[in-house]
Amino acid sequence: MSAINVALLGFGTVGQGVCEAIDTHQERLKEVLGKEVKIRAILIKDPSKQREIDPSIRITTDFKDILDIPDLHVIFEAIVGEEPTYTYVTQAIEKGIHVITANKAMFAKYGPELLKKASHNGVSLGFEATTAGGIPVIGTIRQLLKVNEIKSIQGILNGTSNFILSQMRKKGLSFETALKQAQEKGYAEADPTNDIEGYDAFYKLLILSQTAFGRQPDWKDIRQKGITHLTAEWLQAAESFRLRFKHVGSLERDGFNRIKGGVEPILVHDTHPFYGVEDVENAISLKGSLVGRVTLLGPGAGKYPTGSAMVEDFLSLIEGKYTVSPEKTVTSEDIQEESMGQWV
Ligand code: HSE
Repeated sequence: MSAINVALLGFGTVGQGVCEAIDTHQERLKEVLGKEVKIRAILIKDPSKQREIDPSIRITTDFKDILDIPDLHVIFEAIVGEEPTYTYVTQAIEKGIHVITANKAMFAKYGPELLKKASHNGVSLGFEATTAGGIPVIGTIRQLLKVNEIKSIQGILNGTSNFILSQMRKKGLSFETALKQAQEKGYAEADPTNDIEGYDAFYKLLILSQTAFGRQPDWKDIRQKGITHLTAEWLQAAESFRLRFKHVGSLERDGFNRIKGGVEPILVHDTHPFYGVEDVENAISLKGSLVGRVTLLGPGAGKYPTGSAMVEDFLSLIEGKYTVSPEKTVTSEDIQEESMGQWV
């Protein structure tokens, strides 16, 4: 029986999650795919770091070694930042290798171009893991789009900031202590600026826009604010009015097909579906033209949820369930700067 050969780029929290998921679910994968999945190599950055990796897996710091693996079918990309990731993904696609990425910043910026390139080269590019950790939101949007138009999207899209807000409110922790805990649990990015300043949620919102609306709004037209100005006192005081601060990304398409929205902390009432979304959980609420409102809730970050999303993507890809749809980015003329209002 021949094997499906895969390689991993990056061995941080997400890379380790993918590695373990493949290892612990080998029987299940064999059952579904009829073949064994073999991790042939892992690209790392720092060779001096101690890692527990099966000695049969090649460890390298040179991406060329990965591209040179004979019969490499799929690359799992779990590196942080736009570059060199964009270059690696481009080269892999051009070589006819399928790619599954978890990289929000890179995919928000280059996703449309890379999807087009993948389509051109007859390969798939999976990106379920870029948005909302273990919640299958990309798959759900694709399913809804079979018959619905998506009218609006709201989401708690960053596990780290939701964890921080929950811990500050429930335990009265300082922002710094709560952030440190999120880092220890492997939720936060290596540099947590993107998490706490709202960039991470911003990228995810753009990926959702691309998937649900077939295009992104002009980036400068999306309001974007983090959570660093919030204090435990504010969070606790809001509680007595049955209100909670949640960091929410929103997008709405108006009757003229214009997209407007933003990412910012808002107050939600205890009747709102996001009120009870705590700690590392994410939630996404999608409004479909036929189905009405669908709300998804689940783990938004961490080793296993993100690893699960990448391996699910892998199975869909091998089973040929992907359709790739290159799409365009709209210009600022298409956008209205109007506020989305608050869900208080
Ligand atoms: N740092 C991200 C978060 C990881 O906290 O949501 C998952 O994308």
